[in-house]
This record gives sequence, C-alpha cells and structure tokens, in this order.
Amino acid sequence: MCGIVGYIGNGNVYDILIKGLHRLEYRGYDSAGIALVNPNGRLNVYKTKGKVENLEAFCQDKDLEACAGIAHTRWATHGEPSDCNAHPHFSEDRNLALVHNGTIENYKVLKDALSQHGCTFHSETDTEVLVQLIEYIKTKNSCSLVDAVREALKQVVGAYAIAVVEKDNPDQIVAARMSSPLVVGIGQNEFFLASDATPFVEYTKEAVYIKDGEVAIIERGKPLKVVSLENKESKVDVKTLEMSISQLEKGGYPHFMLKEIFEQPHTLHDCIRGRVVDGGHRVMVNGVNDNKDKFKECKRIIIVACGTSWHAALLGKYLIQDMCRIPVEVEYASEFRYSNPVITKDDIVIAISQSGETADTLAAIKIARGMGAFVYGISNVVGSSIPRETMSGTYIHVGPEIGVASTKAFTGQVMVLTMLALSIANLRGTMTPEQIEELGSHILQIPDKVEQVLKLNNRIERLSLIYTYARNFLYLGRGYSYPVALEGALKLKEISYIHAEGYPAAEMKHGPIALIDAEMPSVIIAPNDHLYEKIVSNVQQVKARGGNIIAIVTEGDTVIKNIADHVLEVPEMPECLTPIITSVPLQLLSYYIAINKGKNVDMPRNLAKSVTVE
Ligand code: F6R
Repeated sequence: MCGIVGYIGNGNVYDILIKGLHRLEYRGYDSAGIALVNPNGRLNVYKTKGKVENLEAFCQDKDLEACAGIAHTRWATHGEPSDCNAHPHFSEDRNLALVHNGTIENYKVLKDALSQHGCTFHSETDTEVLVQLIEYIKTKNSCSLVDAVREALKQVVGAYAIAVVEKDNPDQIVAARMSSPLVVGIGQNEFFLASDATPFVEYTKEAVYIKDGEVAIIERGKPLKVVSLENKESKVDVKTLEMSISQLEKGGYPHFMLKEIFEQPHTLHDCIRGRVVDGGHRVMVNGVNDNKDKFKECKRIIIVACGTSWHAALLGKYLIQDMCRIPVEVEYASEFRYSNPVITKDDIVIAISQSGETADTLAAIKIARGMGAFVYGISNVVGSSIPRETMSGTYIHVGPEIGVASTKAFTGQVMVLTMLALSIANLRGTMTPEQIEELGSHILQIPDKVEQVLKLNNRIERLSLIYTYARNFLYLGRGYSYPVALEGALKLKEISYIHAEGYPAAEMKHGPIALIDAEMPSVIIAPNDHLYEKIVSNVQQVKARGGNIIAIVTEGDTVIKNIADHVLEVPEMPECLTPIITSVPLQLLSYYIAINKGKNVDMPRNLAKSVTVE
C-alpha cells in the first residue's frame, strides 16, 4: 500500500521518478505526488488526486528542474484521497518534504504535542505529523537532517518506509524503514530508492534491502551509508537483482492481468524446475531436507495467509492432510494475530504471501516465532520481509505479478504447496516412492495442460458476454474444488464489482439455495474426482430451481454436459492437481466480464497489491 520512489544523480529526475511511480502504481492509485529539489535552492512539490497520469498532466507547465527528488503513489488510510492529503508533505517552513508508506499509530498524540508548539497542519494524514516532527527536532536541536530523522523515528509507533529531502541540502536523501519495504539501488554516480526494485531495475542490478530500524543516508558522490536509530553504522549488503525489464512490461497484452494469466504455462514451468526431477522420481522443495527433524516430528501445521494466498493455504490443508496425514489448520493472518493462538514448539507455521510484505501475515509470523513454532515462508518477491522473518522457506518463482488481481501467483503457490506436501510425505513415509513418482510425473505435465486450458480463451470471452450484467454469482465446488470456488468468486468481485459468493456445493441446501433463480448464475467446478457423483446431485439441485449453470468439467464428461447451460472442459488430472487446471478458466471469465463492463482490471477500485497496513 503506497509506493515511494527517490532518485539522486545526473539523470532526468522528473522522468525517472514518474516512470518509477508507474511501476509502483499497483501499490495504490488514490493520488500521486512528487518533490523536486533544485540545485538553486528551490523545493517544488506537485501533487494531485488520482492516478500518476493525472500528476503528469498537472506537471506539464511546471518547473521540473531538479538534481534529486522523491515521489509517492497513495493508497489512502488516514484522510480521503484528495490533493491536500496526497504526498509529499511539506514541513511548516517548507524546507523539508517527505513521502511515507505505512501508518503512524501514535500520530494523534504527536500531532497534539506539535500543535501546542505552534505547528499548523494542512492535511488529515498521519504522515504530515512525521515531517513536522522532523523539522521541529531539527530546529530545536540545530542538528542535521539525518540526526533529526533518527530522533523523530524514536518517538514513532507504527510502520513506515520514508524518504525526506531538504531544500538547502540538494545532494542528500534520507530514508528509513520499519515494517514497510524499502530498497536502495546503486548506479554509476546515482542512487535510487523505492518500495521495491521495479522502478530502477533498468538502470542498475545492484540493490541494498534496508532493514527494520535502519536509516539510509543517500548522498551524491559518497558511498551509501546505513545507520541504526542509535547511529550505529550497519554493513551495506549489496544484492544482485535477477529481475528483467521485460517482466515488468505488458509484452503486447492489453493488461498485466491477461499477460499474467497467459504466462502460467511458463511460470509453472519455472516453479517446478529443479524441484521435480528424474521424470518425477524425486520431488524436493527448499527447506524441507535442511529441517528434516522439524518436518518429521511436527504434530500440527498451521497455515496463515490473506486473500488469494489464503485460498492457496486452504488447498495446502487438503494436500498436506491427504499426503502427509498431519492435521492442518488454516487461519486468516488478521484473525490469527489477535486470537490468542495456542502454538507449541511441535507446530510448524507456514506463512504464504505473494508480496512477502502483507502486514497481518508478518505479524502472525512474529507471534508464531515468539511462541516457539518453526515458521516456514512461501513467497514470490525475493528479498521481501516475509522470507527474511521466517526461519526457512521457498519462493514460488513466477516473476513479478503486477496485475492487482492475483493469478499466476495463486497457481504458483498451489504448485509449491503440492510439491511441499510430497516432500514431507516422502520424509515421513506416508506415501510410497511409486505414488510420489506417479504424481511427480503428472506435475511435469502441468505447464502443457495449462497451455491446453488457455485454448478456451475465445469461448470464455464469448460466454462472458451472456453474464456480464448478472448482479450476483455463486461459485460452488467440493473437496479440492471448494477453495477454487472461493478464489473464482474473489477474482470476479475484485475486478468486476459483481457480488459473488464461493460456497461448498453441499452446504447450499442449508440456506443459500434459497437465492437460486434465473437471475443468479452458478459457476460449478466439477472435475471427475471422487466427489463427482455428489456434485452431479448439487448441479441437479441448482438446475431444478431454475438456475443457470456454467460448469468446469473434465474432458469427455457426458453427465453434467447434459444438465448445465455451458460447460468448459479441462484436461484430466489426478484429483489433487485439478485446482491449478480448473482455476485458469475462472481467471479468464472474471477478466472478460470486467473488461465487458469497462473496468480497469489492473487497478481495481479501493485495492492495492501489497497490503502493508492492518
Ligand atoms: C486478490 C489478491 C489479494 C492478496 C492478499 C494477500 O487477487 O491479490 O487477496 O492475495 O492481499 O497478499 P499477499 O499474497 O501479497 O500476502
């Protein structure tokens, strides 16, 4: 939530920052703003409500000369999206400008204290308090900007990644982090800073991930310096980025979401590579062998996640219980953290997060670790907070996901959970080598099977036209198809704004069946698995009440084909591998319905890709 970017160097500061903001727009797009420090002692701040393109239009006739600058794209927390709540925020004397990603929890106390010292506030944000506090300390103590930032942050409770520039000090940017991501890019005589590496990957591959409680001092002509709030210097650990610029572009697709849906054969291939080897004979996921005792002896697994990642987690429960015979609980991280959980050192907690930055998931990890559990992370973004906070873990390796609605990350998470379950089953001896090899060989075929499913694209596009104006949808499934139903419903509601509910198909008769009529389409996920006969009855129950049905079935299905209004056939797969195959047509259906309605699928209203606030 919120993206920050900064630059100091000889390049075109405005262009670099605006391009960087576009890359970070997935993190929020309620408003955008830029602060440009001019070598001749001017500090210009321009900001507007709305997307980055609005900011560009606003800046057309402005003074854009600069040698350094910072910029921000906002997902509103404190104060509605408006010009004045947009970042950067000025200090009282307009000598400092600051951008912030996170939430200052004690902002009210600080604001009251600063007001008593004569500070006036121009916005409703928590952020403005921070810049005023820095200025207040700087003036009172006659100290440097770095010292004022350190002292101010000692008084702050909450989450932040900030960057501050000073009118009279155009050669320096001071940045700091606590629980919100911040990375510094080191170029040739230039520095970048951003919420993730995407704004600068085309300029440099050298990156330093700033840690909680650290302050980065970025100064023209000097090496990067990192200190703690107590002014103790930290080692600067330079990492090499593996990301490529083509991964950040649409590659001829109209939207990132469609590109990411179509990338899945390739991303799943990358996800499987090196983990299923010898034709499926060996399946191994990072972190399992190194922690053999933990995985062999654990009594229970708890999986924590949010949103789409929670749906993958629910599939993880089915997979691990089936294959490893370990009891598994699945918790929303936001509930888990406040539920006074009972956790012991015999538990393994698995945290799943595409971004690796979700605040609730991070908090859940800290609680579980504090209570002695072994915590394993599954993430997509290399170097993000969750991999650093967990004791072991693995990446899904599906490349940057930019569309706000998660698609390729979901299938990657499910794929990793499947391989993780097989690795644990192997260790605990709950599956025979033959059974593992059999499933392993099917896993190797998944990229091709997904490619086959994508051939349904044109049919789904036509089908979407029939249902574009439905006001409600039901998504039904049983067993492994139940989490797929939940995920299908979430995809539809988040990008088309149509109300959709995912439900276990057999639970319908306990209430929701009352909703069925000709106006309420049902999407029923009914592959040929051990519950097939059961779901056929559920399909009949919906049809008997006049409901329209779109069914996802296995190729060659004859029974449901004769009952449902529309069927989409997917290739046959072992039951535990069907979720990856059946979720793809649902992604396409949501995409086309949202497009038919003229919605911005890559930036749905009110949402942001990385939820770094509670
Ligand atoms: C939905 C979606 C969200 C995320 C959720 C968790 O398409 O993307 O529901 O799944 O915000 O995010 P991560 O996985 O980054 O922790």
